[in-house]
Amino acid sequence: MTMVEAGRPEPDGGAELIAPVPRVSIHAFCESSSLITLVSAAAEDRRMQKASDKSRMGGIAAALSAYREEQTPNVILLEVGSDRSSFLTGLDGLAEFCDDGTRVIVVGGINDITLYRALIARGVSDYLVEPFGTLDLIRVISELYGKAAATSLGRIIAVYGAKGGVGASTVAHHMAWSLATKLDLATVIADFDLPFGTAGLDFNQDPLQGIAEAVFSPDRLDGNMLDRLMTKCGERLTLLAAPAVLTREYDFDQDAFDGLMDLLRASAPAVVLDIPHMWTGWTRRLLQSADEIVLVAEPDLGNLRNVKNILDLMGPMRANDSRIKLVMNRVGLPKRPEIPVKEFVTPINVTPACVIPFDSKVFGEAANNGQMVAEVSGGARFGALFESLGRQVFGRPEVQKAGKGSLIDSLKSTKLPFSFTKKA
Ligand SMILES: Nc1ncnc2c1ncn2[C@@H]1O[C@H](COP(=O)(O)OP(=O)(O)OP(=O)(O)O)[C@@H](O)[C@H]1O
Ligand SMILES: [Mg+2]
Repeated sequence: MTMVEAGRPEPDGGAELIAPVPRVSIHAFCESSSLITLVSAAAEDRRMQKASDKSRMGGIAAALSAYREEQTPNVILLEVGSDRSSFLTGLDGLAEFCDDGTRVIVVGGINDITLYRALIARGVSDYLVEPFGTLDLIRVISELYGKAAATSLGRIIAVYGAKGGVGASTVAHHMAWSLATKLDLATVIADFDLPFGTAGLDFNQDPLQGIAEAVFSPDRLDGNMLDRLMTKCGERLTLLAAPAVLTREYDFDQDAFDGLMDLLRASAPAVVLDIPHMWTGWTRRLLQSADEIVLVAEPDLGNLRNVKNILDLMGPMRANDSRIKLVMNRVGLPKRPEIPVKEFVTPINVTPACVIPFDSKVFGEAANNGQMVAEVSGGARFGALFESLGRQVFGRPEVQKAGKGSLIDSLKSTKLPFSFTKKA
């Protein structure tokens, strides 16, 4: 048991990693309305989407009367009231009704070692000293179910296109490559576009089963099997490829990838998910469970509408996370009327993390040769943009090179020959 003191700051950029809370039931018995508010804010968080929760006023007395009748849940959260000794007596009484496996977390306003010891002696799992933040509560619950795993958590970065064909896979693969080669992070790239994924092609690998084996054999899936399904593409880069064959259909339940995600989280510090542009239960869940979302869009009205809808939907459950990173890609495609990037981002109040100009020669040559753009002639400036994106996702400072490669420069140098005019 640990005594958790005053709230750590809520994260911003390179957000703190907390494993998602598993499918457990949580009951809170509060003495203050502020704790009720905090518990319901925690329940909104993406890390709690599998857990169920119920909170009520009345503290230990309400818990005692409830569990004379009901079964105890997986986690009971109890707030200490003004009378500490009657709280401890109540806790002793509660022990008689508690099912095996029920964990108790106590919340109190006093940082008191005597109380803390008394709670340990009664088998309480954690003591949270008020005031604390939403993430403190989620962290404590999460750690009840996997402290060991929590210490080796990888950051899951979901890359998603606001429309099909906007370059989401290109961004995912290049960012993953930059994380591995420029930031020296062991990185896994997982291609969730099972029928059509191009990660194998982009990294010049032969067709592989990879992710299909993982999802079609959930009972056999463990760390060893996952290792066998992944292919090394570089010193620090590993690929979990899509089969890219059409001999079977790929319909999945929304929780089909939950087990795989838990294993991936423990497999490397950086895990990049290349998610196809589909809106299904499982794609939505992958996005919701990611630590970071990189949203790729082209500068047109359909993309703008979709970006706005995604931000509106994801915003509330990501209140304790760093903001979704918007990448404007294929900007300046010749002869295409575009919405200038500034006008695109103003109504949605987002600063793009990266603006990538359209360049058919560099991107086409890299894709055809199974190379990264940084490896082909004229591709260095794009390589710098992907590195910058990786650094932003990991909260690592930019390495500023005099005058070139910064975000502002990329915005300035982006040629937007056609301005967008809305039809009347
Ligand atoms: N900045 C760019 N300039 C020129 N071409 C680009 C750029 N970014 C990506 N492309 C090209 O656009 C095409 C689509 O890219 P990609 O497959 O990455 O898109 P996607 O969003 O993953 O598509 P899908 O919806 O099929 O998954 C590819 O041919 C890619 O090489
Ligand atoms: Mg794709």
